[in-house]
Parts: sequence; C-alpha cells; structure tokens
Amino acid sequence: MKNIDMNPYQPYRKMGLSCELREIKEKRVIWPLINQIDPNNPNFRLRTVTRNDLEEVAELWRASYPEVYGSVHEWILDPQEYEKRVAFAENWKEHSVTRPNAMFVGEDLQAGKIVMSSIYTKWNRNLHVEASFIAIHPDARKGKIASSIWSNLASFYKWLEESGAEYVTVFCETWHNITQYIWFKRLGWKIAGIFPGNFTRWAGGNNEYRGCTIHFYRLINDGIRYTNQPEEWSLIPEVKELWDCLEKINAKSTEEGLKE
Ligand SMILES: CC(C)(COP(=O)(O)OP(=O)(O)OC[C@H]1O[C@@H](n2cnc3c(N)ncnc32)[C@H](O)[C@@H]1OP(=O)(O)O)[C@@H](O)C(=O)NCCC(=O)NCCS
Repeated sequence: MKNIDMNPYQPYRKMGLSCELREIKEKRVIWPLINQIDPNNPNFRLRTVTRNDLEEVAELWRASYPEVYGSVHEWILDPQEYEKRVAFAENWKEHSVTRPNAMFVGEDLQAGKIVMSSIYTKWNRNLHVEASFIAIHPDARKGKIASSIWSNLASFYKWLEESGAEYVTVFCETWHNITQYIWFKRLGWKIAGIFPGNFTRWAGGNNEYRGCTIHFYRLINDGIRYTNQPEEWSLIPEVKELWDCLEKINAKSTEEGLKE
C-alpha cells in the first residue's frame, strides 16, 4: 500500500451504506497447491503444473484453444511466456503468493498424458480470481475422463475459498454453450453480462474477428458483507430494468455439480 495522504480529499458521495465497511489493509490471494487423485476414478489426477509439463501443456492449449492466437491471451500457446507468469509446484511457497496465474492440469494416469488444463488469474488487492481458461484435449472429451474433470473442478472451487479470494469470475466463449451451462447450472455462478466483441479471436489462417463472451461471478468468503447493494446504486431506468431482469434469470442458477 502506498503512503498517500488522502486527508484533503473525499469520495463523490457517501457510499457503502448498504453493507459493512472495513479498514484498508494489505490483501492477498494465495493459490492452493493441488494434487489429488479422483476418489471415483483412480486413473485421473488433478494437480498443479510443474516446469516439466510446459511443452505438453502448451501443445494442449494449441490443440484445444487455438482461438486465442493473435489476442491478449495468446501467451498460453507459448511455454516461454509461462516462466514469468505461472506458479509452479516446485516453487510453491513463493509462487503461490507472487505469480498472477495458476495452472491446474488433469492427468490420465493410464495413458500418462495431460488431458485437461485450466488457468486462473488473480488480483491480490481486489481479492479476485478469474477462471480464465479451461480446455480438455479433443481426444478426451465427453468420456469418463471428462466427467472426472468436471467433478474435480467443482471440488477445486471449494478449495478456492481457502485462498482468501472473495470475488470469483469467469468469462465463457460463445462458440458453444457448454461452459455457460456448467458455471450457471452446476457451479451456481450468476450472470454479470454479455460482452459482444470483447476479445479478438482467431478464425483460422491469418484471420480474426471480435468474439462475444458471457461473464459470470460469485461472491465467496466474506465478499458479500462488503458488497454494496442495489438500493445505493445510481442507475438510469433502462439499466435498472436490466438489473431486475438479470436478477430474475440469476434466480435460476443452480449448484447441481456441487452436491456430494
Ligand atoms: C469446453 C470443453 C472443456 C467442454 O468439454 P466437453 O467434454 O466437450 O463437454 P461436454 O459436451 O461433455 O459437456 C460437459 C457436461 O455438461 C453438459 N452440458 C453441456 N452443455 C449443456 C447444455 N447446454 N445443456 C445441458 N447440458 C449441458 C453435458 O451434457 C455434459 O454432462 P454429462 O457428462 O453429465 O453428459 C471442451 O469442449 C473444450 O476444451 N473446448 C475447447 C476450449 C473451450 O472452448 N474452452 C472453454 C471456453 S469458455
């Protein structure tokens, strides 16, 4: 925290009347270290990435999520980029605090292959974790391994609570609706909005377009206590109408995938 004298200034309007306030202190999210064999499938392990995995994982991203080529997210296709961003299992004590990205992979132990990868981004001072990317290798989709992946991810989101995060988000691409379904119906997250043209995405060859993403959120830990409520948001009528509509739709979000 910078030592800036804020005494001469004041916020635009007194806010935070509909929630609790707290003293500003140093805030941080600490990535959990994951290494778990699926209790229902001894052939599947979810674990934190190591440096030995980098070539294999980058290849998985290239085969499974090539749409990020040419975009702000292109770094996930290039293992050299991981070195300064990603938290590695072998440096956990330091990296779990300092690295902005965590990568958890799913391993098919029988085949000795990484079949899934997922990337998370954190903003310590906002106690925010974004579930940024998930991909299952095309050969492992829709089978026994795929269902292990989803049940293990659900337990991962429970571990996230221990990281100290209080606001978690995800953006879902719109070339299919599978992840929208999973986050909304299985993991109980709420729709924050529809972002047309949000990210550039690869269209094959040397072409790109701007794709639409759907954004979801969830407040965990004590996040809700410090979140101000609609009664103190200043909204134009159309935005208020949109909020009421969103709330009606978000009431349909369910946690099918979090039941033991
Ligand atoms: C997205 C991805 C991880 C999904 O994996 P998948 O194995 O293809 O997923 P499935 O189609 O088997 O769907 C998973 C489950 O959700 C269910 N589901 C998905 N969408 C659904 C919908 N719209 N309505 C009802 N059920 C739905 C499926 O029935 C399945 O459940 P089941 O195993 O109980 O049958 C995978 O396709 C992938 O890696 N794609 C490329 C990268 C990508 O698009 N990443 C996500 C960007 S947001």
